[in-house]
Amino acid sequence: MNICIIGTGYVGLVTGACFADLGNRVFCVDSDRKKIDSLKRGVVPIYEPGLEEMVRGNMKKGRLSFSTNIKESVKKSTIIFICVGTPSAESGEPDLTALEAVAREIAKSMNSYKLIVEKSTVPVETGEWVKRTIDTLFASGAKKREGGFDVASNPEFLREGSAIKDFKHPDRIVIGTGSEKAKKILLELYKPLKAPIVVTDIKSAEIIKHASNSFLSMKISFINAISVVCDKTGADIKKVARGMGMDKRIGTSFLEAGIGFGGSCFPKDLDAFIHIADRLGYNFSLLREVKKINSEQKNVLIHKISQLVWNIAGKTIGVFGLSFKPDTDDIRNSPPIDIIRMLFARGAKIRAYDPKAAQKSRDTLARLCPGKKKEIVYCKDAYDAAKGCDCLVVLTDWNEFKELDFAKLKKLLKNPAIVDGRNIYDPEMMKKMGFTYIGIGRR
Ligand code: UDX
Repeated sequence: MNICIIGTGYVGLVTGACFADLGNRVFCVDSDRKKIDSLKRGVVPIYEPGLEEMVRGNMKKGRLSFSTNIKESVKKSTIIFICVGTPSAESGEPDLTALEAVAREIAKSMNSYKLIVEKSTVPVETGEWVKRTIDTLFASGAKKREGGFDVASNPEFLREGSAIKDFKHPDRIVIGTGSEKAKKILLELYKPLKAPIVVTDIKSAEIIKHASNSFLSMKISFINAISVVCDKTGADIKKVARGMGMDKRIGTSFLEAGIGFGGSCFPKDLDAFIHIADRLGYNFSLLREVKKINSEQKNVLIHKISQLVWNIAGKTIGVFGLSFKPDTDDIRNSPPIDIIRMLFARGAKIRAYDPKAAQKSRDTLARLCPGKKKEIVYCKDAYDAAKGCDCLVVLTDWNEFKELDFAKLKKLLKNPAIVDGRNIYDPEMMKKMGFTYIGIGRR
């Protein structure tokens, strides 16, 4: 099928490349000329395992192309996926201006039947607004209706770092629409994946996305809250999480205590859902508490550093990990960035290392803390980051931090102290090797 992807960010680019890989003809569009020029050269401006090869391979086969021209790309396509960003406005409400503008552009470009699909995470009732916006354009006579159109919701459940795998092997595909024609087209499109498909009305599909992300965030805040209880009682959060997770109704995933969740989705989707509920006249206090616990977890970590170095002022802290999770260079709402800012505020000097996110972190921290440029060194590896530090802090659970030469690490540190913000090390082993070790909810 001929598909147009509007918005080539994390979601749009992965979705477009994967649809092309399934044999479809995909036209990707973005208003960011720099990004499109880079993609036309086969250079993918984000780090996502396997994505650059997939983009290049499908470009070579003529199944994937990039343009800044929405009109042209819409005319050539039957299915139009809207994958533009829905960032949080100041108020926390999702900012849908880009989405509305795209809906109008699509309407003006229609030359035959189009199926318009919301892939971006949008508030419930957005589908109705998209339909109404396009209908109004036709009704005003600004555009002749040619072949009609349908609107559907098809939320994504891609995790950064495993987005291609998540696309190709989804737990479920959600299709929300009231049109039999739209349902048939999308069932046909997704058939090659042979995955379970849930077909609902459009509002239920829009809520499934927000409810899923909010539930996952809640699960993380829940286990982080339990880790505080473990810290106060001397219980071990890993054992507690294991014992809980063996109950199939709870499950083991998303029960890893740490420094809290970040990324471009959970924080934004939580805010959006809270505001959507407010607008509907419901105070979603449970989600407000999820947010509060998540924010509090950073203070828990700072307190643990103080427990090892006493006064943070003047101390040098080695930081392992800057991205919000491993296997990505994404630092949007990244807890490590927030924690570095909190350490700066307490007068610490930083030596930081991240396998992929150093450059983005350098640019962001230089913008957010211009007066602290001299207080942070971006290091070439974990050992370099440990040099002369009063304490090491693990903030992102990259695999390479798990296989280090700890004897070498200990010699490099001024003080063999580690705060393991992601519980990647074994407390007994660290103590045997002579480290002062504090984890999150570890005995
Ligand atoms: C998430 C959802 O998982 C995905 O379905 C949705 O489409 C987009 O948002 P993503 O944000 O890429 O995906 O990463 P995810 O793996 O969900 O992790 C989100 C955050 O939670 C990360 O900061 C991670 O470190 C943290 N996390 C995750 C925990 O702290 N503990 C856990 O057990 C799991």
